[in-house]
Amino acid sequence: MWSVSAGVLAVASLGAACTPSVTTVSGTHAPATVCSGALIFADDFNSFDLEIWQHENTLAGGGNWEFQYYNNNRTNSFVHSGLLFLRPSLMSDQFGEAFLSAGTLNVEGGEPADRCTNPQWKGCERTGTFNNPLNPIKSARIRTVNSFSFRYGRVEVRAKMPAGDWLWPAIWLMPAYNTYGTWPASGEIDLVESRGNRAMTLYGVPIGVQEVCSTVHYGPYPALNGWERARWIRRNAAGYHSNFHRYQLEWTPDYLRISIDDLELGRVTPGNGGFWQFGGFNSNPNIENPWRFGSKMAPFDEKFYLVMNLAVGGTGYFPDGVRNPSPKPWWNGSPTAARDFWNARGHWLPTWNLNVNDGRDASLQVDYVRIWAL
Ligand SMILES: *[C@@H]1O[C@H](CO)[C@@H](O)[C@H](O)[C@H]1NC(C)=O
Repeated sequence: MWSVSAGVLAVASLGAACTPSVTTVSGTHAPATVCSGALIFADDFNSFDLEIWQHENTLAGGGNWEFQYYNNNRTNSFVHSGLLFLRPSLMSDQFGEAFLSAGTLNVEGGEPADRCTNPQWKGCERTGTFNNPLNPIKSARIRTVNSFSFRYGRVEVRAKMPAGDWLWPAIWLMPAYNTYGTWPASGEIDLVESRGNRAMTLYGVPIGVQEVCSTVHYGPYPALNGWERARWIRRNAAGYHSNFHRYQLEWTPDYLRISIDDLELGRVTPGNGGFWQFGGFNSNPNIENPWRFGSKMAPFDEKFYLVMNLAVGGTGYFPDGVRNPSPKPWWNGSPTAARDFWNARGHWLPTWNLNVNDGRDASLQVDYVRIWAL
């Protein structure tokens, strides 16, 4: 990262032609000058730079009540041979099994790097019970929230999806300042997410690791989110865990476009009515448009930061009623979902290959992240 930034800055200070860019940046690792077409952020993961990547430290499973505890621990996130690994492990390895249904875990720490990053959904302290055990999985989510945010540009992330039942990796962008209000009013761009299950079909269609999905979220409030009009799926019979692929975003003042390996997956080009009209929200006269003073790209005309994580399970992304050699052990909305998941570990744990090759199969592996100015 440093050598690349130094190069970018050197070019700018030599007074070489620098065409100003529409791209804007902020954060501790943002370049001082943004020239059109320049590389403005890069990490090749030759080392794990925690000045760039802040770890989430929370028990919060988000609105999907996912089963993982995100922590800053080199079992769950590490750099090795030029690759970043986000890797799941069992909570019981560290705390013992009895702790899950009886222990109290408070993840708030005193050091600046140890603070609980998300208190929502009982994210900073939980007490396990028989029916509602503590998060059975440990994993990692990292983000550039303090180091780098940008508005408009081209992103390329070369990554390999994990394989293993109920693993849910994601590489995405979140709004840096919630300029238009809280989620989803300020938007969310999911560059790629997938399901780790090797053999999972819904109505005969493989929806596990043979499928990746990109989604754009936007709407005036959570119940009114226009993502259905901006979601794209691609399938690959070999599975996205078997090879690295390049996941790409082109984000301009006119459109959002997602590609995989240079092949366009989907694009949103809002008209002059912006995302309000694109989402069909204008049919409801009683709701105020939070983007009415923004450009037609609002909320995607403000800065976003990068997030990469490996989630596990939860109520959102894994549909009920799927056909699978190891059937989904919980139903969405079940108050005992985490318990049912943990009790079924005889089915899913062997699919993770955690004891093979440092758990490489079950890890989200990232080769590089690169972002260029428009
Ligand atoms: C990191 O995770 C490992 C595996 O769960 C655990 O044994 C270790 O105690 C953890 N380290 C800290 C500092 O929590």
